Amino acid sequence: MTGRAAKATGVNDTFAIETFNLTKIFDGCLAVDGIDLAIKKGELFALLGPNGAGKTTTINMLCCLLKPTGGTARVMGYDINQEPYKIKEVIGVSPQETTLSERLNALENLNLIGRLHGISPRKLKTWSKLMLETMGLAERARDQVRKFSGGMKRRLNIALALIHNPQILFLDEPTLGLDPQARRAVRQYIARLNGDKTILLTTHYMDEADFLADRVGIMDEGKIAALGTSVELKTEMLATHTMVVQAWNLTQKVVNDMRSRYTQVAVDKGSMTISDQRLDFKEIVDQLHAAGAVVRSAHIKEPTLEDVFLKITGKGLRE
Ligand SMILES: Nc1ncnc2c1ncn2[C@@H]1O[C@H](COP(=O)(O)OP(=O)(O)O)[C@@H](O)[C@H]1O
Ligand SMILES: [Mg+2]
Repeated sequence: MTGRAAKATGVNDTFAIETFNLTKIFDGCLAVDGIDLAIKKGELFALLGPNGAGKTTTINMLCCLLKPTGGTARVMGYDINQEPYKIKEVIGVSPQETTLSERLNALENLNLIGRLHGISPRKLKTWSKLMLETMGLAERARDQVRKFSGGMKRRLNIALALIHNPQILFLDEPTLGLDPQARRAVRQYIARLNGDKTILLTTHYMDEADFLADRVGIMDEGKIAALGTSVELKTEMLATHTMVVQAWNLTQKVVNDMRSRYTQVAVDKGSMTISDQRLDFKEIVDQLHAAGAVVRSAHIKEPTLEDVFLKITGKGLRE
């Protein structure tokens, strides 16, 4: 969008996506509960949440596939309720279920979708080639899609979403149902796109959000329960740090000594777990030595996004 158009509509030019109390109710079921989000241009934003959190419903409203029950959103400055056709020109969508023609080859799939977008044959030829290379499928361009692995289909699905060079890319569970190796490959190809385009992806894999996203929104029961970079979420949400020590001679005296210093001290055979708001690695090792224990190994346990999720929602991501 040009600066002039932005001014004319009073749009904030920093954001690719802004939602305002965006709400969806299905037959009395509150799927998306008045969310307010602002995603910057060029940002890779992950909506992380368990099944049924409202991620797909949110994406479908932003892609103008579903009308909101209340509130609205702007995508590249266009209102989802008023300018859906404008939005469709600037977005690419890779839905949760892949939408490929199994009997066509990869290139034919790209050509088909490219033509639907009205892309000229010459441009399409260049773009298809580039997209197949970007997604690591150049060598399989002329193979029928039904022979592709799950990971390759996902990557082709992303290539299809990119064929008209959209400014925003929506990826709904791009690695759903893939084995760990294929997930890693898809993840790496998504990482390549980062910075060039604004990407909104949904996932219920926290390591994926952790690895890929500039910012993460933790979604639960239709609400954004927490928002920030993965580091911010981990440090702000988890005031408690944990250290695990393997040691000989963990006597009752040692345990009592550590319990007098730290909020939580648990011992299991030759292993001691210490949790508190502030932990200093060297200090703890010194204290243990002074109390008579012989430390063999020790490490600070880094909090994960799963811990954050558990803390704010009281449940695991798999539930
Ligand atoms: N078309 C629909 N009709 C009725 N309920 C729906 C429909 N789509 C989604 N839901 C409900 O809305 C909630 C959110 O679903 P969804 O957005 O698919 O979650 P997610 O993508 O996070 O797994 C769920 O409770 C789901 O059952
Ligand atoms: Mg979903």
